[in-house]
Amino acid sequence: MPHRTYLTTPIYYASGAPHIGHAYTTILADALARFARQSGDDVLFLTGTDEHGPKIEEEAARRGVEPIELCDEMAARFRSAWERLDIGFDRFIRTTEDEHKAVVRAFVQRLHDRGHLYAGSYEGWYCVHEERYWTEKDLGPDNTCPDCGRPVRRIEEENWFFRMSTFQDALVAHIRDHPDWIVPEVRRNEVLGFLEKPLGDLSISRPRSRVQWGIPLPFDDDHVIYVWVDALVNYLTASGAVDPSLGPEAPGFEDPTGSWWPADLHIMGKDILTTHAVYWPTLLMGAGVPLPRHLLAHGWWVVGETKMSKSLGNVIDPLQLQEQYGTDAVRWYLLREMPTGSDASYTPERFLVRYEELANVLGNLAQRALSMIVRYRDGVVPEGDAGGLDDAVSTTLDAVAAALGDYRLHAALAAAMDLAREANGYVEAREPWAQAKDPARAGDLDDTLATLARVLGVLAALFHPVCPERSAELARRLGLSGVQTLQEARTDAPGGRTVERGDPLFPRVDV
Ligand code: MSP
Repeated sequence: MPHRTYLTTPIYYASGAPHIGHAYTTILADALARFARQSGDDVLFLTGTDEHGPKIEEEAARRGVEPIELCDEMAARFRSAWERLDIGFDRFIRTTEDEHKAVVRAFVQRLHDRGHLYAGSYEGWYCVHEERYWTEKDLGPDNTCPDCGRPVRRIEEENWFFRMSTFQDALVAHIRDHPDWIVPEVRRNEVLGFLEKPLGDLSISRPRSRVQWGIPLPFDDDHVIYVWVDALVNYLTASGAVDPSLGPEAPGFEDPTGSWWPADLHIMGKDILTTHAVYWPTLLMGAGVPLPRHLLAHGWWVVGETKMSKSLGNVIDPLQLQEQYGTDAVRWYLLREMPTGSDASYTPERFLVRYEELANVLGNLAQRALSMIVRYRDGVVPEGDAGGLDDAVSTTLDAVAAALGDYRLHAALAAAMDLAREANGYVEAREPWAQAKDPARAGDLDDTLATLARVLGVLAALFHPVCPERSAELARRLGLSGVQTLQEARTDAPGGRTVERGDPLFPRVDV
């Protein structure tokens, strides 16, 4: 049986257009999904849109459209952006889907049936942009949100609450017992630090008098479900564990056997780690559902030194970059530039540095090797010893596997690029142009060219998860019927294949 991997991105608010922050999360998930598929796993890669709550309701009102019209438009926009960026999601969930609404209602009913909910009153501050509550002492100057700086609202109302506090000890124990549950470690320590203070209960509903656009509570029609509870449950809905027609007693809640639940990996930005590492697992504990296996919190993209924001007008549009440099270049830049877990700064200069790495190291290697096979051997890879770089290949594959093991994708990609650098060094050292001039060294030249053909096949496989389009083109030029698996590529016998030189894989760009 192949190993199964279920991985998720956050679902994006259907109120704003995709920017490089969203693109990063999604491309990171896509590359990990592709690495998993490459190693033979069955994969469910989930993304989608978060469509309820006041944020959406207010944006729709601002535009003078119905909330669902806004959601339809934005969901289509996210989908097409992801398609243009070659993101091969298996399922795109929308929280306005009937199936999801039914699972959320069954989930919340189940919490109620198990005695984890109570009615109470809430008094405090709320930020609609972040869709979260703040206490007085957290606020910034002039009653602003400490996260986004927007004005917060004073709220006094009846809410239903989830007894989150009763799960605090169990959650701390879970985090301590599973050192790699939250990756990277700095984020794990942050969550543990947060959990040193007593955990409050979580308000899980909004009176309909204030918020209409949401899923009604199954046991109190005057309230809709808090958008974060609604949103988090999407991961369970898409897993297929729960048949919502069976209601809160659906057996899949406790025993998801045969479905994709529990998720192997939830990927998200550090800004929404608390919801994923505190709200979500405690809600699951309350419902008696197994917890996801890993959470990966990545860093934040800033522009130069500044936060990216609509109001500052400095939002970077991934599709504009895609148009200018191609899909693979955008993917490579985002994944190679940001050390998984840390913040990174977008600048056009750094984008070009990364682009030139693709063009001058990988592209140049392919161009040289293919040209020489065409020139010296009429375009047919000779039957030489293809193992001249086998040690370097082994070292690289080990480094890549180790880096992927703890989701350090940037390090895996650096190792892949280093192999291309090493292969360029091999060309310099072997001087095939000199070998070609000396008939006595024809065998050496065969070995050089066969080695280069094999290493290019390995590079096509290694770069495929991040640069799917250009890697497939490289494989085609190598005379392969498709990109090989890493296992096939490392022992490949390329002799006899007809190659094609083609234009540069990554053309020179005018700045
Ligand atoms: N709807 C919620 C998620 C619900 S998941 C059950 C949400 N949506 S969001 O549209 O605001 O953003 C989601 C993702 O985009 C998060 O992973 C967030 O970290 C990421 N990013 C948004 N801006 C970002 C940057 N500037 N840099 C990196 N990632 C950023 O939150």
